[in-house]
Amino acid sequence: MTGTAPGKAILFGEHAVVYGRPAIAVPIHAVQARATLGAAPEGEPGQIWVEAPEVGFSGWTRLARPGSAAGEADPSPVEGLLLAVRLALDHFGASAAEPLRLQVSSEIPLAAGMGSSAALSVAVLRAVAGYLGQPLPADAASDLAFQAELHYHGTPSGIDNAVVAHGTPIYFRKQHAPAPLAVGRPFTLVLADSGRPSATRSMVAGVRRRWEAERRQFEGLFDEIGSLAVRARAAIEAGRVVELGPLMNENQRVLQEIGVSAGSLEALIASALLAGATGAKLSGAGGGGLVVALTDARDVPAVQAALQRAEAARTIVTVVGE
Ligand code: PMV
Repeated sequence: MTGTAPGKAILFGEHAVVYGRPAIAVPIHAVQARATLGAAPEGEPGQIWVEAPEVGFSGWTRLARPGSAAGEADPSPVEGLLLAVRLALDHFGASAAEPLRLQVSSEIPLAAGMGSSAALSVAVLRAVAGYLGQPLPADAASDLAFQAELHYHGTPSGIDNAVVAHGTPIYFRKQHAPAPLAVGRPFTLVLADSGRPSATRSMVAGVRRRWEAERRQFEGLFDEIGSLAVRARAAIEAGRVVELGPLMNENQRVLQEIGVSAGSLEALIASALLAGATGAKLSGAGGGGLVVALTDARDVPAVQAALQRAEAARTIVTVVGE
């Protein structure tokens, strides 16, 4: 049984969302994670054969027990896959007596701010549900994937699992049900993967250290980002696309102040704006990873070319709200 899930991009509110401010995220259906689960009669009870080339693992192992890894290093992705299997089996009250075979593949670059860990988790959860012949509504998939995100990221806000599981644009606040976003007028984004991996867990931990040292200043910055997300929601719903670019640029300025931008991201952002993008910012944890540029359809080829010249590892064009 095969399960799939899309990548994602955060348009407004990363980092501040961890501190309770609203954020906006969209699924990126052009890139998908895929998981297939079946029986592996040649194995022993409790064993699972995992084939996951993108995370560099292929072989027999045993299902891990749920639990969050300590420390700031990003934990092993294969442990996260096993955790997702275990969470789904527990959710359905199934035991893992029978040996299993899990094949996982993903077009979503790892550690690139595109929600690869959440998408892998949701794809695995859906594969387990399919294998057991059980339905798995989006809310349940999101809640279970959140448990797996705890393993990867320590203190996730829950936005990645929510947008990936629902597969629609969302307005999100921590500990609230995600609100689907009605897009008044479609708009085009050019995404650029900087090719520099970004470890979400350590970026989030760095922000926390700076927030602890300068709480008043950081709370103010998070408030600024939150109000940008509120204004962006209204603009998206009313189809006032022209307002979005400046809001993105403003969000990027605050992210710089928070200390999560990087030279490579700034270079990509500057090149996109110079080529005609109306707004551009980092997307996700920052430090590396993804840049997202709002672009009129006619300027897409120029913006893509500029991002490639600025050494983007890959560009993806997506239309939100089509
Ligand atoms: O880097 P990503 O795609 O995992 O996005 C992280 C978004 C943060 O706001 C920085 C963290 C979170 O849990 O919301």
